[in-house]
Amino acid sequence: MNFTKFPRRGYLQGQTPIEPMKNLSKALGGKVNLFIKRDDLLPGASGGNKTRKLDFCIADAIEKGADTIITCGAIQSNHCRLTASWAAKEGLECHLVLEERVKGSYKEDGSGNNFLFELLGVKTKRVVEGGSNMMAEMEKTAAELKAAGKKPYIVPGGASNPIGALGYAACAEEMMDQLNTMGLSIDHVVVPSGSAGTHAGMVVGMVGTNAGIPVHGIDVSKPAADQEPGVYKLAQDTAELLGIKGGIERDAVKCYGEYVGPGYSLPSDDMVEAVKLFAAEEAILLDPVYTGKVAAGLIGLVRKGAFPEGANVLFLHTGGSPALYAYLDTFRA
Ligand SMILES: Cc1ncc(COP(=O)(O)O)c(C=O)c1O
Repeated sequence: MNFTKFPRRGYLQGQTPIEPMKNLSKALGGKVNLFIKRDDLLPGASGGNKTRKLDFCIADAIEKGADTIITCGAIQSNHCRLTASWAAKEGLECHLVLEERVKGSYKEDGSGNNFLFELLGVKTKRVVEGGSNMMAEMEKTAAELKAAGKKPYIVPGGASNPIGALGYAACAEEMMDQLNTMGLSIDHVVVPSGSAGTHAGMVVGMVGTNAGIPVHGIDVSKPAADQEPGVYKLAQDTAELLGIKGGIERDAVKCYGEYVGPGYSLPSDDMVEAVKLFAAEEAILLDPVYTGKVAAGLIGLVRKGAFPEGANVLFLHTGGSPALYAYLDTFRA
């Protein structure tokens, strides 16, 4: 794959580690060997997957002459935290539109990412009702800023457009490079599937590197039947942007909806178990909204025997731990 045709800011500073999770593998019965790719350790305040996507999206904004970034997310959005973080580093203004997906959950003095938005110098935060048309809301903010003489650039929710998804196609290539150097053969990769850029990008990267490793997307908000078409469309568009011949086959996109629990961002028992297991066995912090549910999916699939005995399974850790502090009651209950 050729990424040199796309502007990039160089936020990554090298490869994120791939580590074995021997204790967790043993705690789950020792039937499969678990590994983790530590994208939670990416640069940008408190790390996480959006740094890879913003490496391309902010470069596009700067190339287009923007001086202001507008983006959106849920009230504990890691994407908004990292967009604010990179905007601060670049000397760009950052404006957020926050969606209150769970009625009554926004608190002006909230903890976790919500607190970090302010610390990272976000200029304005506007909270809108769950189910609002977020692109239309961001366009409203853009019109106001343009009228005030600014040059705004909209990064879509989760930076999940083909430009942002390039970040995860590049991650797949980085991962294959590491695995080849380590001489480690991975049989399955487990990734989050939310706004879909991470999942779609990884699928594209697996095809683009001819890796032949199946990618399992664990949904964090929707049932599989609702999630898969969006992931597939984004994967096709990203493959086209990259000029990958032959495109993406439909069955390369596989989602699991059964680990969403009661709904997006709402705690589930298996999420709490997964967060506690990762912390106790591997000293790795997950988050309650995304990676805790994805890890619940990983654990659930291992327990169900979805991976053959002896398989090497890699979990992509996409960050998010600041949100843990907004859920203390869940973990202390
Ligand atoms: C920590 C974390 N993991 C995973 C995801 C899901 O990634 P994507 O939106 O690319 O599907 C998000 C999205 O915000 C996230 O914050």
